Amino acid sequence: MGKPRVVLVVGTRPDAIKTLPVVIALQKEQSLETVLVSTGQHREMLQQVFHTFGVQPDRDLGLMKHGQSLGELTGRMSLALDELFKELKPQFVIAQGDTTTTFVAGLSAFYNQIPFGHVEAGLRTHNVFDPFPEEFNRQAVGLFATHHYAPTELSASNLRREHVADEKIFVTGNTGIDAVLMVAEREPQTWFPEHAGRVILMTMHRRENWGDPMATCAKAARQLVDEHPDTLLAVPMHRNPIVREVLEQELGGHDRIHLIEPPEYARFTKLIQRANLILTDSGGVQEEAPSFGIPILVLRNTTERPEGVDAGCAKLIGTNPEALLSEGTRLLNDKVVYSEMSQVKSPYGEGKASAMIVEAIKNYFA
Ligand code: UD1
Ligand code: UDP
Repeated sequence: MGKPRVVLVVGTRPDAIKTLPVVIALQKEQSLETVLVSTGQHREMLQQVFHTFGVQPDRDLGLMKHGQSLGELTGRMSLALDELFKELKPQFVIAQGDTTTTFVAGLSAFYNQIPFGHVEAGLRTHNVFDPFPEEFNRQAVGLFATHHYAPTELSASNLRREHVADEKIFVTGNTGIDAVLMVAEREPQTWFPEHAGRVILMTMHRRENWGDPMATCAKAARQLVDEHPDTLLAVPMHRNPIVREVLEQELGGHDRIHLIEPPEYARFTKLIQRANLILTDSGGVQEEAPSFGIPILVLRNTTERPEGVDAGCAKLIGTNPEALLSEGTRLLNDKVVYSEMSQVKSPYGEGKASAMIVEAIKNYFA
């Protein structure tokens, strides 16, 4: 028998950022064959990540279409991955997180009876409509995963509560921290336009925030910048036209607001480090910012990452404009509150998750 074939599936920007450190670690293992598959759920934003890590997929299904609905993307992906798994006959399939790519990679592995390893397992809001559809996706793959790589003790305890057997759970830290530490020192600080004052970084893209919640937050962020003349607001815009339209409408035409194309990951990481305050609905950014001591206001009603909120480095403020203005103002004006938040140690790991995941896979085949 040949080496066990481990197939890792990515499709979106965060899938790739958090999976490529595992791919790089697995490729060093002589006893395993590693195959990287891209569903191409994202296009430009995904290519950027392959470029940053110097890794290209072995297979690219190139599935992205503009305006793709969840149902049609799921259908096309399911057909394509089923065919590919029948051809590649993997002994183990791995996917991370909660995207459509993760859900369909898991489902296709399940239908083909291939063991499935879930990276970033056990995150829960316990409300399948928030975030939508991500909470459903991660709960669904949690039903049949062979290995659950939980980033924290809290995520592991969520899985135990769902009766996942202890021997299937591995508490590893988050592979996103492996990734951010890999690229953190790479870019010169100067890629972003000179600005002597404070920088506020804002990203929003979640489906449940499309429309009014995003417009309201953008208006409040604009007011925050107007009330603090030394600040500059940097807004990397997700490529989704639905998101860009709102951001351009509410934040365009202001000389201290920079609407920019999404910087590739190493540059974005530098922007996090340069920021004084972060406003975001992103999952990954909630995990990365505490590694650099940057306070975050989370523009969501729920978070599957309560560790940051409990530790005190993030505040969950919803999409209420008054909350954004008052909490933003407090952090910009009150040095004591600011330094309390920025000094919290990151609860998301120390960059050793990929090595632990590879160890678990090796032991599985030993
Ligand atoms: C997806 C994930 C979400 C994750 C986000 C990360 C699902 C259901 N959602 O949401 O969990 O937080 O990725 O960014 O899997 N587009 C481009 N170029 C790109 C990427 C996207 O043009 O490189 C545009 C396309 O028009 C595409 C649209 O954005 O149809 C939406 O992309 P999609 O992957 O369906 O949803 P996201 O909102 O990106
Ligand atoms: N990111 C990036 N460039 C950007 C915005 C985000 O490289 O312009 C990175 C960010 O550091 C994090 C990941 O993309 O690792 C998060 O992606 P996103 O917010 O799109 O998805 P989520 O984490 O919410 O699923």
